[in-house]
Amino acid sequence: MTSWRDYWNQDTPIYSGERHKLLHYKLVANDIVGLVPSPEAVVLDYGCGEALFADQVAARCAKLYLSDAAPLVRERLQARFGGHERIAILAPDEVTDLVDASLDLIVVNSLLQYLSLDELRSLLKLWRAKLKSGGRLVVADVIPPDVSPITDAKALLSFAWHGGFLKSALAGLARTAFSEYRQIREEIGLAQYSEEEVFDILQDAGFKPERAARNLGHNQARMTFIGHVTDPAAS
Ligand SMILES: C[S@@+](CC[C@H](N)C(=O)[O-])C[C@H]1O[C@@H](n2cnc3c(N)ncnc32)[C@H](O)[C@@H]1O
Repeated sequence: MTSWRDYWNQDTPIYSGERHKLLHYKLVANDIVGLVPSPEAVVLDYGCGEALFADQVAARCAKLYLSDAAPLVRERLQARFGGHERIAILAPDEVTDLVDASLDLIVVNSLLQYLSLDELRSLLKLWRAKLKSGGRLVVADVIPPDVSPITDAKALLSFAWHGGFLKSALAGLARTAFSEYRQIREEIGLAQYSEEEVFDILQDAGFKPERAARNLGHNQARMTFIGHVTDPAAS
């Protein structure tokens, strides 16, 4: 396996079990609901994963686009939400086809670490073009340079303790330590950014950057940023 993109196109040991996966997606969906600006909003969840509670987000907006690079993930989304009138599932290429300046909110949770800087810059250009003036890009779960796998493990164990899946989380961490994830992490690495770097990158792409008070999801050692679109995308 040579890329993170390929890695995500399979069942991964990242979730220690069904309960972990459910609680994770529930928390992320709740956090996304909190970001939806109005019931008329058009929202894109980019790199959405299985988004198990996307229907709860869709209940709070006019249209929810779910996009993920992994065909397996999109098949699962299609099986779960294919019939939902306000949800559309898109391959990344299809995001390009969305009308420019048509989205109110784009959420990108826990994706940046798997992108090269060039990929990130080109996606920011795409997202900037698709957002309306006044729209917001929320880039979440960004790993700061000083956050190690041990910090991540501690955050997971605290989440697991409160969520009642501590035993399976411990087993999951042990599995991950010997897994392909660890191998690819050593080979390709995970992108980590400081707050200043994210501000610069967002500014370069035409956003007005802001750091959010808290991160989406359970790991508060990671960071969330909001990129505001203050004027129409340059044409
Ligand atoms: C860690 S998961 C995060 C899923 C979800 N956002 C969440 O909060 O749980 C990363 C997801 O990003 C997807 N992905 C990886 N590279 C991508 C890319 N270049 N474009 C779109 N999706 C991508 C993977 O297939 C995977 O489902």
